Amino acid sequence: MSNYVERFSTSERILHWIVTCSFFILFLSGLGLYSRLFNGYFNLFGGGQNAILIHKAAGVLFFFTSLNMFLNHKKDVSTFDEDDKQWIEQRGGYLSRDETHFNIGKYNPGQKLFAIFIAVATLILGITGLFIWMPTFFPRWIVQLSLMLHGLMFAGSVMFVVMHIYLATIGNPGTIEAMLYGNIPKSWARKHHPKWYKEVTGESP
Ligand code: HEM
Repeated sequence: MSNYVERFSTSERILHWIVTCSFFILFLSGLGLYSRLFNGYFNLFGGGQNAILIHKAAGVLFFFTSLNMFLNHKKDVSTFDEDDKQWIEQRGGYLSRDETHFNIGKYNPGQKLFAIFIAVATLILGITGLFIWMPTFFPRWIVQLSLMLHGLMFAGSVMFVVMHIYLATIGNPGTIEAMLYGNIPKSWARKHHPKWYKEVTGESP
């Protein structure tokens, strides 16, 4: 009997890594546009004009793949049950020195909130990005508001993605295996997502 359980299909993993690559391209090409302080980053793309072109292309890719990723696991991230409430009340046990156990499904509430935030941010970044892309087509106030919202969402997303990367790697050792190989050890699933473990294996955690 296998000691592993499938967590993500190949297509789910490819989609996640396309979202990740486009996010980092957007981040690096957007830095120079965000502030003159970061103009040096344009050199990574062979100059400012190229950086803008690449930013637009990566933006379109990120918009559709990120929303696609959200729609794929909308069912798992958009509902919160009593066990999730307990997790929220105890902040997932991250601030406690005691051993904590929560009866968590496929994603914990922190992951769900992150996924919802990224979906909302993707929509706002995409829509405001379009206004900034064609500034002469729209009233000036819309473009100015878009510039502000685009910058705010950019900063917020970077902050949450940094937290996401920490929690998916050093913060919870072993988690990265799910996104690299698709399978995860049963012991990891029993510990982090016992309710999901029972759903997919039928075994009691
Ligand atoms: C080097 C960068 C990244 C690493 C190492 C990473 C790692 C992971 C891992 C291991 C999971 C699965 C968690 C689990 O099985 O419980 C995951 C899920 C997910 N990732 Fe990433 N990720 C990265 C970048 C990103 C970026 C840039 C985004 C979006 C902008 C993103 C969005 C998501 C979402 C929405 C999920 C599903 C919900 C969740 O686990 O929070 N990831 N990621």
